[in-house]
Amino acid sequence: MRSTFFTKHAVAAALAALTAGAAQAEDVEVLHWWTSGGEAAALNVLKEDLESQGIGWTDMPVAGGGGEQAMTVLRARVTAGNAPTAVQGLGFDIIDWAKQGSLANLNDVAASEGWNDVIPAALQQFAKVGGEWVSAPVNVHSTNWVWANKAVLDDNDIEIPASWEDFVAALDKLKEAGVTPIAHGGQAWQEATVFDGVSMSVLGLDGYKSAFIDLNEDVLGGDAMKEAFDRMAVIRANVDDNFSGRDWNLATAMVINGEAGFQMMGDWAKGEFLNAGKVPGEDFVCFRFPGTSDQVTFNADQFMMFDQGGEVSAEQAALASAILSPSFQSAFNVVKGSVPARTDVSDEAFDACGKKGMADLAAAAASGNLVGSMAHGHANPAGIKNAIYDVVTAHFNGEYDSETAVMELVDAVSIAK
Ligand code: BGC
Repeated sequence: MRSTFFTKHAVAAALAALTAGAAQAEDVEVLHWWTSGGEAAALNVLKEDLESQGIGWTDMPVAGGGGEQAMTVLRARVTAGNAPTAVQGLGFDIIDWAKQGSLANLNDVAASEGWNDVIPAALQQFAKVGGEWVSAPVNVHSTNWVWANKAVLDDNDIEIPASWEDFVAALDKLKEAGVTPIAHGGQAWQEATVFDGVSMSVLGLDGYKSAFIDLNEDVLGGDAMKEAFDRMAVIRANVDDNFSGRDWNLATAMVINGEAGFQMMGDWAKGEFLNAGKVPGEDFVCFRFPGTSDQVTFNADQFMMFDQGGEVSAEQAALASAILSPSFQSAFNVVKGSVPARTDVSDEAFDACGKKGMADLAAAAASGNLVGSMAHGHANPAGIKNAIYDVVTAHFNGEYDSETAVMELVDAVSIAK
């Protein structure tokens, strides 16, 4: 990792020079997977922020929720010696790139802007490697959410389910009424996202940590894990026939249109509701997956600045600084569905689900109930994550019964370790 010469004054001077046109502003090339309607609306907030500072934007979108395809493109670009300036990254992927020496050092921007004091410790674990800042956190998402169409719930006399049993009763009512109970997109990362909440609801926080962070074989192969797979089978029985391969935002659209009752998805789904002009509490409701109301399985988007063969550039430093500014953190996350990556941003501009997301995050961080999402690369490195994906997906698609799935899970994780 290289050190940087940018101090607060140098960043300010570089920005002033760029804005005044005294220096040739370089574009930043940004590789990301924010391609749905809601995601694109949020991305625009960032583009416009940079453009207002005289920094141009070269867009490098790689569609595919969860970012697997984006990471494949990134690997090819880095191997070809042509890394993008800034790249959306998650959890352990960031640590891997830092350890490979690919990331520019953001220590000076971080120090001059006091990131240490305002970025939650749970995020710093993935933004700092060996004590050096290597990425700029944009937000905090979490995966153990359920999104529901309010009119569909009201028409069918369904209250927000507080337990798994209530949830199953609600699914039965919807099926009876001819509404698709659960909108789902059959892609491995989406099944894993559902599994985050489902497994947490059965294993509890300690069990979830033992299974996915400590990779404890007894828990991975235990009865509670089998029960989690049984619940996944119930969910599978409540999706429509065309779920296979569907993108997550099209599943969200089914809930928005009242074609389906519920979707289990991270809070980026809220961005789709907002983008469709829907209002929480009126058109849709958000709640934590039943049995996980005190817990938060988080994933934080960050921007890694790829080393361009020298010190961190003025544009990279400006991008990092813009991302962490409190006003941007509010403006962006209001649209994205996530919550700020700083602890000192007011919840005033956020809607009811956003306020709940912020309060849940703060409470979970204080009580120790905040844990990294397995599905989104915050529990273990990509090799292990992918091994878990394979088993969860194979079970969802009927290749394994629950008993076989737990055995396969133990094997797959032990091979990937
Ligand atoms: C990212 C979100 C994104 C979602 C779907 C997640 O991995 O953290 O920002 O909206 O994937 O694309």
